[in-house]
Amino acid sequence: MEEKKIKIGLIGLGTVGSGVYKTLEAFKNIEVVKIAVKNKNKKRNIPGLDENIVTDNAYEVVNDPEIEIVCELVGGVEPAFDLIKTALKNGKHIVTANKELLAKRGEEIFNIAEENNRVILYEAAIAGGIPIIMPIKTILAGNKINKVEAILNGTTNYILTKMDMQGAQYQDVLKEAQELGYAETDPTGDVEGFDAAYKITTLATLAFKKRISFENVYREGITKVRAEDMKAANDLGYKIKLIASAKTDEKGRADVRVHPMLISKDSTLAHIDYVTNAVSLTGHPIGHITLSGPGAGEFPTASSVVGDILAIAAEIGTTDYLLPMMRCRHDNPAECINILDTENKYYLSLNAKNNKGVIGNIGSICAENNISVESIVQKNVSQNNTADITVITEICLEKDMQNAVKAFEKSEFINNVNSLIRVQV
Ligand code: HSE
Repeated sequence: MEEKKIKIGLIGLGTVGSGVYKTLEAFKNIEVVKIAVKNKNKKRNIPGLDENIVTDNAYEVVNDPEIEIVCELVGGVEPAFDLIKTALKNGKHIVTANKELLAKRGEEIFNIAEENNRVILYEAAIAGGIPIIMPIKTILAGNKINKVEAILNGTTNYILTKMDMQGAQYQDVLKEAQELGYAETDPTGDVEGFDAAYKITTLATLAFKKRISFENVYREGITKVRAEDMKAANDLGYKIKLIASAKTDEKGRADVRVHPMLISKDSTLAHIDYVTNAVSLTGHPIGHITLSGPGAGEFPTASSVVGDILAIAAEIGTTDYLLPMMRCRHDNPAECINILDTENKYYLSLNAKNNKGVIGNIGSICAENNISVESIVQKNVSQNNTADITVITEICLEKDMQNAVKAFEKSEFINNVNSLIRVQV
């Protein structure tokens, strides 16, 4: 007997959509019956694509009674939210790569999915081709995960890697990355940390089984990282990476953030270079694991999308409650810690006058703000009689460090606070 074909609709036929379409051709039980695109006249390099199934009205996909799975690959909050809501109400299952929608309106779409007994899978939304969502939901389900540290954005990891290798400044590497197509013309979403913040919002929600609100995720991008910071970090045994992290304290409060971080050269994440992504999880009973791989790109992302489609397709018609372990019902919101109340270790670069008492003044400002100095290094007094001084602190309160920065900015000994970057502990 011929196997029943599952009919699916694609919304989006860009880089990821094309990869999904091409990959699905090998699966005879799946038939793509409709594809929504922005511009029907755009030339596409997809051999064998039937132009008759292409529409520029995405509602034709979500309202098509034949379609059982809708695959949303356009990104952004609207119209994606309304399309997914309509598709769910029309009884379709959803596969999406939309990290922004999940972070900002995840709770709403998962509630609509439950009300309609449908599933939403989103393996491609976080770390592209790395399998991380399904592992957390299934084979790691017996764990209490208390810490996630990850490199979730390829563009920024590429820029930081190049800055490190070439001793180059951020703006120069960004320009080169844009010319090579590794960074967008408007790079804000990546370089200011939004993309990684969307991803860690959902990842932390899954890891802690409590809903993290995107507004509570602290975010800082890489635009202020200088070549001089890279060099100083290297000299001290560190690399600088944009780290997305989430941890819980002893009271169960969540600390979720994205910011540049000095990480020890011996750590696993220090070896994740260029566009590669990686996710490290710590929990009980697993201990510590890291998964790494391609975080973006046509076929790596298609691998995750197609895996989700096949997981749903395999269960359609076999049960009236599909994939129970993959469902999201986090009705308990997480209590989150404000960044000012967190404790961190810091790298601080100051440009100081080459005067007597400067190091003493730095030490006094730290002490007055409850900050203990772990190391202090001054190198190369410049021709204008100023010097860059690098301080590594012991663990202290963010609030205290922010007050110390204000005091440095007022100090007669200090010309400029060059950089303040947190250090991995
Ligand atoms: N813009 C992302 C990155 C890929 O640079 O990693 C898509 O999430």
